[in-house]
Amino acid sequence: MADQPRLAVFEKFIQSARAFCAANTDTEARMKKIKTLLEALVGDGSLREHSKSWPCTEGHKNLLLYQDPDYGFVINAVVRTPGREGRVHDHAHAWTAYGVLDGMERLERYRRVDAGNRPDYALIQLDGISAGYAGQVDLVQPYAIHSEKGGPERSVAVIVRSERLVGKVLQGRYDAKSDKYHESEGPMQVEFAVV
Ligand SMILES: [Fe+2]
Repeated sequence: MADQPRLAVFEKFIQSARAFCAANTDTEARMKKIKTLLEALVGDGSLREHSKSWPCTEGHKNLLLYQDPDYGFVINAVVRTPGREGRVHDHAHAWTAYGVLDGMERLERYRRVDAGNRPDYALIQLDGISAGYAGQVDLVQPYAIHSEKGGPERSVAVIVRSERLVGKVLQGRYDAKSDKYHESEGPMQVEFAVV
């Protein structure tokens, strides 16, 4: 399976991202470029068609589509069931480009309003909700507090992270009702080849 060629548009995305990373060492610059490349990827009909058969990631899972051996960026996918409510979290110090490939999703953005000096407490306020449609990409900055929610139908998103966090770095978790805060592992990584 590893020897099968990747879907052409997906391979092109990887090679374009690698070429930019080779010439640019700054993480923010890389992720801004990757956002632009990802817009083209999630706007592509052949990948959307391909994703119709991707397995659901219910139960705190991500599909692991690719991990770059040289530059460390990781390409994940989430496949949400209709109306899926994601939890409020951050991605620690990593940058994340979040692209909707199929269906629609809502991205809720929060702002922290307490002083941040109590280890298990975080008071957060909803800053805004944006609708993401197929072809749209949101660039999430380090420590930005957010939640992705599923739409009325199955939805698929392709996510590029500046580095792998799972197994290395814990991510912040927020409860808007109880104002509790804790840190935990990101989603389980399920290897999946886009071939
Ligand atoms: Fe997220």
